[in-house]
Amino acid sequence: MGLCASVVSLALKSSLLAWYRRNRRDLPWRRTADAYRIWVSEVMLQQTMVQAVVPYYQAFLERFPTVERLAAASEDGVLALWSGLGYYRRARNLHAGAKHLVRQGGQFPRTLEAALEVPGVGRYTAAAVLSIAYGVALPVVDGNGRRVFARLFALRGARGRSDRTFGVLAAQWLDPGSPGDWNQALMELGATVCTPRSPGCSHCPVRGHCRALAEGAVARLPERRPRRRPVKVAVAAAVIERGGRLLLVRRREGKLLGRMWEVPQTSLDGRGSPDLARELEERHGLRVAPGALLGQVQHAITYRRIQIEIRSARLLSGPPPDPARFRFVRRGELAGLPISSMTRKIVASTGAARGRTGDKRRLP
Ligand code: ADE
Repeated sequence: MGLCASVVSLALKSSLLAWYRRNRRDLPWRRTADAYRIWVSEVMLQQTMVQAVVPYYQAFLERFPTVERLAAASEDGVLALWSGLGYYRRARNLHAGAKHLVRQGGQFPRTLEAALEVPGVGRYTAAAVLSIAYGVALPVVDGNGRRVFARLFALRGARGRSDRTFGVLAAQWLDPGSPGDWNQALMELGATVCTPRSPGCSHCPVRGHCRALAEGAVARLPERRPRRRPVKVAVAAAVIERGGRLLLVRRREGKLLGRMWEVPQTSLDGRGSPDLARELEERHGLRVAPGALLGQVQHAITYRRIQIEIRSARLLSGPPPDPARFRFVRRGELAGLPISSMTRKIVASTGAARGRTGDKRRLP
């Protein structure tokens, strides 16, 4: 880099860092230097907006204030506190990661190599925690930070889509003296000023350096990736009650909603119109006679647009005697169980008159 370019880059860095230090949102994970707490926040922030994360983060750390407490918890206890936040594999990984850390002495590692050994911790989370908690000079760039780079450098075409481009830029621009603040400054600028629609260019601290602004191309950058087309999925769910209790089944380990409890329902990968009785027998060994239509609800999970038809159903024989997979619960007990927003919605739509679940948290 020539002298001129390096003066410009210093000016950009110091403007952005100074802006961050003055304007950063006061978020609970920014009030701590505890690597465990920062790790929890970074896992929750994956795929999830800050506003949605805050109440979950607070409740989670109240229950599990230390990595030892998290490691000692039951899987259900961990998943229950994650209920409604989505992407439940993150919670199972965090739990497995806590057990790993406790076996290794209870500290989040200080090197990238050791951090990558923690179950569920990939390059992104490792770099975020190490830079923010310990000041290790590792770059991190999330979707917000990518948008900032795409506009600052007017990245178009393949360059604007390439992970490698962003990785190289993040490494080049990292402020090795303040890597945690620098990484967060980039992400914060993207989250609060350099937003996808109506960005606040007039008060952007780095407006003088922004190529997209100079070219009048802010609204067109970053170029949109073609989104995965939404897929419509029809699901049928069975409300099966016994003595005022509702039958729940536990999903298997899996990508989507793994290990969560739900009302018996047909597959989210089903094509065409679902056959409730046949699928419940195939999926769970449950023999049921479907009855009246109780309601219909819609729910979206990633690209799936799910239309759920809810029917009452009668068991033709008892559920298989396996309490790890089948249980009857009172509606009032649902708040303490690992259940997804979709299940919450299904139960609420049929049970409003019979009492609420007492939990109004929503997926972002
Ligand atoms: N996105 C992910 N982690 C973040 C952080 N620490 N600050 C701002 N945005 C983020």
